[in-house]
Amino acid sequence: MSTLTNRLRPTDRIVILTGAGISKESGLDTFRCAGGIWSQVDLEDVATPEGFARDPDLVHRFYNDRRRGLLDPAIQPNAAHRALAELERRWPGEVLLVTQNIDDLHERGGSAAPLHMHGELRKAFCMHCRAVTDCHGDLSVHDLCLTCGRKGGLRPDVVWFGEMPYQMERIQRALEECDLFVSVGTSGHVYPAAGFVAEARSAGAYTVELNLEPSEGASYFHSSIHGPATQVVPAFVRDMLTLV
Ligand code: APR
Repeated sequence: MSTLTNRLRPTDRIVILTGAGISKESGLDTFRCAGGIWSQVDLEDVATPEGFARDPDLVHRFYNDRRRGLLDPAIQPNAAHRALAELERRWPGEVLLVTQNIDDLHERGGSAAPLHMHGELRKAFCMHCRAVTDCHGDLSVHDLCLTCGRKGGLRPDVVWFGEMPYQMERIQRALEECDLFVSVGTSGHVYPAAGFVAEARSAGAYTVELNLEPSEGASYFHSSIHGPATQVVPAFVRDMLTLV
């Protein structure tokens, strides 16, 4: 950590990327850990446009269950979500939080404007008029779009495999300009997010991985701190804020 704090200045720009691991200790499953979501359901069936075209009811059930899960009082933001929100608030330089997660735990943990590159469970997208609207209940093929009034066009506003993640140009610019890139709780398995560390590093950023175990992209990071996010993230943020 001393290498990092010796080289950072409080005006430095930070990009943080999070994945499912940051929400694990809040009670939400990851995708590829033992017993994870992709061991329970075939991603081809529920996380591709082809799967949705084949069986929209199945896809709606999958995301309706996960959306309802967010309403469970037991599912709360954890110390890692809150620590990143504190870093956003107190770090003088720019901080961009990019999350692959479609849950709302960063917002509920105090983050002002996380960039959901894979979309959000609590938003719906109309394939007829392309409107994005809040969605707090179940979705079905029978629902009418509140914007265009047409039926049968609503889908979860979630980016599926084979689709372009949101705000990639803004993310690329931030990676080119940042001084520090921090990855939290992601396996480094899915692109383009998995390539962010190499892009940031080649642009001159110092790169740090905070994860339960080495990810697939571990070799790209200047340093890694392994352990549960609720322990390593608050400790990391505390060290960073000694510079402020
Ligand atoms: N603390 C920190 N890291 C953890 C914890 C924890 N308590 N528990 C698990 N992890 C780590 C795992 O070691 C793993 O590296 O979190 C990572 C989770 O990896 P994945 O399940 O692959 O989730 P993620 O990297 O977010 O997946 C990326 O893949 O399926 C798509 O769209 C989906 O956004 C998702 C993307």
